[in-house]
Amino acid sequence: MMDFDTLKARGLFDQRLPRYTSYPPAPAFHDGIGADFQAKALAALDPDEPISLYLHIPFCERLCWFCACRTQGVSSLAPVQHYIATLEAELAVVARHLKGKQRIKQMHWGGGTPTILPPELIERLVTAIDGVFQRDENTEFSVEIDPTLVDADKITALRAAGMSRASIGVQDFATQVQESIGRLQSYEQTKTAVDLLRGAGIASLNIDLVYGLPFQSVEGFGRTLDQVMSLDPDRIALFGYAHVPHMAKRQQLIPEQALPDDRARFALFNHATDVLTGSGMTAIGIDHFAKPTDNMAIAAAEGNLRRNFQGYTVDGCGTLLGLGASSISRFENGFSQNTPQTGPYSKIVRGGELSTARGYELTGEDKLRSRIIEMLMCDYAIDYNELALTDAQQAMLTPAFMALRAECADLYTEDAERLSLSVEARPLVRRLAHFFDTFTMGNVGYSRVS
Ligand SMILES: C[S@@+](CC[C@H](N)C(=O)[O-])C[C@H]1O[C@@H](n2cnc3c(N)ncnc32)[C@H](O)[C@@H]1O
Ligand code: SF4
Repeated sequence: MMDFDTLKARGLFDQRLPRYTSYPPAPAFHDGIGADFQAKALAALDPDEPISLYLHIPFCERLCWFCACRTQGVSSLAPVQHYIATLEAELAVVARHLKGKQRIKQMHWGGGTPTILPPELIERLVTAIDGVFQRDENTEFSVEIDPTLVDADKITALRAAGMSRASIGVQDFATQVQESIGRLQSYEQTKTAVDLLRGAGIASLNIDLVYGLPFQSVEGFGRTLDQVMSLDPDRIALFGYAHVPHMAKRQQLIPEQALPDDRARFALFNHATDVLTGSGMTAIGIDHFAKPTDNMAIAAAEGNLRRNFQGYTVDGCGTLLGLGASSISRFENGFSQNTPQTGPYSKIVRGGELSTARGYELTGEDKLRSRIIEMLMCDYAIDYNELALTDAQQAMLTPAFMALRAECADLYTEDAERLSLSVEARPLVRRLAHFFDTFTMGNVGYSRVS
């Protein structure tokens, strides 16, 4: 890999760029897209063409200061119960627009903390989902789990509902780091949750880690990595801490003077990569690692990795339907996002309407740029055979390719079939993807590149 100074000279640490979990990135969505767009998109779906389903549960018992997720703290179950009734209402509204019982290939519950739901609410929600969608034994069902907010009964209920994958948050086990991000969670507590999940037969487990948090050191993070590897995860997500206190107000509690600088963040990321790949995991895209037998590693090796709002996925479905406050759906022709605040979202949905607040309608050009950016983010390559560019498309992309060739020709190899980034240049992939991004959204709100 290139060293810090070389990458710095190439601008790696100076630019804030999208993570490209969508193209265009969500800040480009606008309120010209409303419920009628989503209604048309739902009505156009073929019930037998599988889709992915995302359910957002925007509640947590604890509110970690570092967290940029859209979620709210609750101390009683009343708002959660109310929200589940609202999701039931949204499912009924969606069902009205679908042609029939829609097949789903993947379902993901995220948040927030889906394991805030007690067993009876888990069962209620699954019953409502199964009233509208068809699942079978091949439908993957993954759930984001806070190890401090889960027990055997919840895991039994999720398993009975078909959960096949679990993702748990760790971030870092070092006490000083945990205290500085307002998130205390012992190794023992985490291991208990992992043992419960494994005991229930969950074969695929992801663990989230974050580098770039206050007081992190290579040595301390190394200890966290050893502890994490002793839990035998199948996947690791290693996110760079995004410090955006102007957007996530609770981050104002983060002691900024204790945040590692660019050089220290780079060292943390490199050390983690060395430890994880040294333990036999395969590095995937910008922030994932997986056992070579895991289906994400297999998908990456076969060129079938994809990127969506949850990050990297093996999900090849063209449609992702998001339910819940602030959820984003992706349809063939564009994106629609639900009203973000739970109050107004509930009111609209309980009134029998779709709650689309904003979105974006994709042009043919956007779809092409989106696929090129996805290829770069997933495969570190552009596959010209798959793109099969027409002359008009070639012409449209000429400025992007000219800029790429002028500024980055030393970072990749190219022949008639493929452009491939060198392994050394991989940290710069978001910069390369940016050449194909015509949305000049400014830097505000995007996370650091490294
Ligand atoms: C919905 S949470 C995980 C599930 C559960 N609520 C928990 O805390 O264990 C999603 C993940 O996003 C990541 N995340 C949240 N805020 C972040 C930030 N500011 N920068 C980088 N990653 C962040 C964390 O790794 C976190 O585990
Ligand atoms: S990290 Fe998890 S538990 Fe903490 S605030 Fe974010 S979503 Fe909630």
